[in-house]
Amino acid sequence: MPRVSLWFFAVAPLYVLVGMGLGIFMGANNDFALAPAHAHLNLLGWVTMALYGTFYALARDASKKLAWTVFALANTAVIIMIPSLSMVLKFGPQSAFIAPLVVSEFITVAGMACFALSVWGVLLKARREDQQRSAMLARPSAAE
Ligand code: HEM
Repeated sequence: MPRVSLWFFAVAPLYVLVGMGLGIFMGANNDFALAPAHAHLNLLGWVTMALYGTFYALARDASKKLAWTVFALANTAVIIMIPSLSMVLKFGPQSAFIAPLVVSEFITVAGMACFALSVWGVLLKARREDQQRSAMLARPSAAE
């Protein structure tokens, strides 16, 4: 498995373990104020990381540089987003918490945009290879 996929799968369970812990904590205290933070940690930290890791494990010819960029952006975003979102949920929309939250949202989008570039890069490369193969097959051989 490519190193970048392993790293996606290495961090994803760490996020979901914290997310599950937060879920148990919310249930135990009957206080669900942090439910959106729990949901975003699990969905961006666990589900999205696992999907990124799966794609890069399957698409071996995806750009490594883009894959690591997605990894860096996705992780930076989660690490900034979850604490700042939690602060907003607990203490209200103060600019000290809103500013990093908004930054993390844009980093999340940038990560997904890089992932989209990765997928489209692989798709276009496969199409070009198909076209080259068809052209080779259609070309009359030199012996004829
Ligand atoms: C040990 C595992 C988990 C526990 C104990 C747990 C617990 C909870 C609790 C107590 C809530 C709040 C319910 C309410 O507001 O009435 C919640 C909401 C939610 N959870 Fe979990 N959860 C777990 C795992 C997960 C996972 C793995 C995901 C996603 C991959 C997830 C996604 C969500 C979502 C989307 C919500 C709704 C959030 C909202 O309404 O703002 N949870 N969970």
